Amino acid sequence: MEFQSVKKLRGEVRVPGDKSISHRAVMFGALAKGKTQITGFLRGADCLSTISCFRQLGIIIEETPDTITVHGKGLLGLHSPADTLDTGNSGTTTRLLSGILAGQNFTSILNGDASIQSRPMKRVITPLSQMGASIRSINGNDCAPLEITGCPLHGISYRSPVASAQVKSAILLAGLYADGETSVTEPALSRNHTELMLESFGADIRSNGLTATVKPNPALSGMSILVPGDISSAAYFIAAGSLVPDAEILIRNVGINPTRAGILQIAREMGANITLFNEKREGEPTADLLVKSSSLHGVTIGGDIIPALIDELPIIAVMAAAAEGTTVIKDAAELKVKESDRIAVMTENLSAMGCDITATEDGMIINGGKPLQGALINSHSDHRIAMSFAVAAMIADGKTKIQDADCVKISYPAFYKDLNKLVKS
Ligand code: S3P
Repeated sequence: MEFQSVKKLRGEVRVPGDKSISHRAVMFGALAKGKTQITGFLRGADCLSTISCFRQLGIIIEETPDTITVHGKGLLGLHSPADTLDTGNSGTTTRLLSGILAGQNFTSILNGDASIQSRPMKRVITPLSQMGASIRSINGNDCAPLEITGCPLHGISYRSPVASAQVKSAILLAGLYADGETSVTEPALSRNHTELMLESFGADIRSNGLTATVKPNPALSGMSILVPGDISSAAYFIAAGSLVPDAEILIRNVGINPTRAGILQIAREMGANITLFNEKREGEPTADLLVKSSSLHGVTIGGDIIPALIDELPIIAVMAAAAEGTTVIKDAAELKVKESDRIAVMTENLSAMGCDITATEDGMIINGGKPLQGALINSHSDHRIAMSFAVAAMIADGKTKIQDADCVKISYPAFYKDLNKLVKS
């Protein structure tokens, strides 16, 4: 797909539902008794993989254009799947489902696409095995396909070496099936949607600093869930609105949970002009964001904020390429094990556009401010890379071509349409 520079952006956008919350709404709805009605569900390929896995596990899920209805059968209501469960490109589906399957009384096999088959699963195999689960990487490389045989589980207190909501959630979900309390302590706080949502479904779950603790065997009941817009999708409009010379964009109904909203803090530190309106603070907090053109400058990004903007680092790197001065991104080695190695892939593609960028062990150093040139971009089939370079192309001289641009269907199928609607001549 081809892109070129843009001088003016105006208008309003409503980004699709939050991916993390959409996955969890289906999963927890399946484990609850009764109906869970989900409005604002993200119909991206990742969340559709979650729906199809739960259908294979015997859960009836109805879809209309506006709502998804999950007919939950309780903690022990899943049945043995006839086939391998296909998690597609979705790390969240693979890891959270591993935690749930560890507590069932049947065996299942989980597998996904080439990217999933190279992503690290030892991070869930280790704690789930400590709880008593029988979980095996079939190819012996600590990646999917995984064979999981449900077993009686024991509660554990686990110190996770990584700040990962997928690891934390897999353990807490297995903890629902354990014989005692289960707690997870992380090195820095990752997104807390599992803790917030399981509590509203009726689980006994507490958070205390970096530790989350769940009691087993709750009676979860179906509920209505309104999924807020995904800040990870809004991030591309925050960047486009900041970088394009004459821009003013209103992004409606964005989830601003503090464990996710690191980009707002960093973009503002870089000099972005972002105003929040209509803030709502119950449950998952939301706001409308007004973004206007601004001149950005380099910053240092590292430490505890990293989990709160981990998925936004590719687009933040694009902002850094356009910002005056040096941006250092550190403590972000997790980028190497996302849908692609996002340190290598951002360095490859921003270099192709003429940016002065160096990959480091745990991040990138970007000397910004040099004009970007249109280039051939290899998305490595990573949705967040494709969307980041569609924005970079708006401020680059000449044409940019993005290979496999269609991979945005993973998290934002209408992305190019929504972005193009804002372009004014
Ligand atoms: C997610 C957690 C993050 C994030 C991913 C979604 C989730 O991964 O990168 O896109 O829904 O729990 P990690 O928990 O592995 O950091």
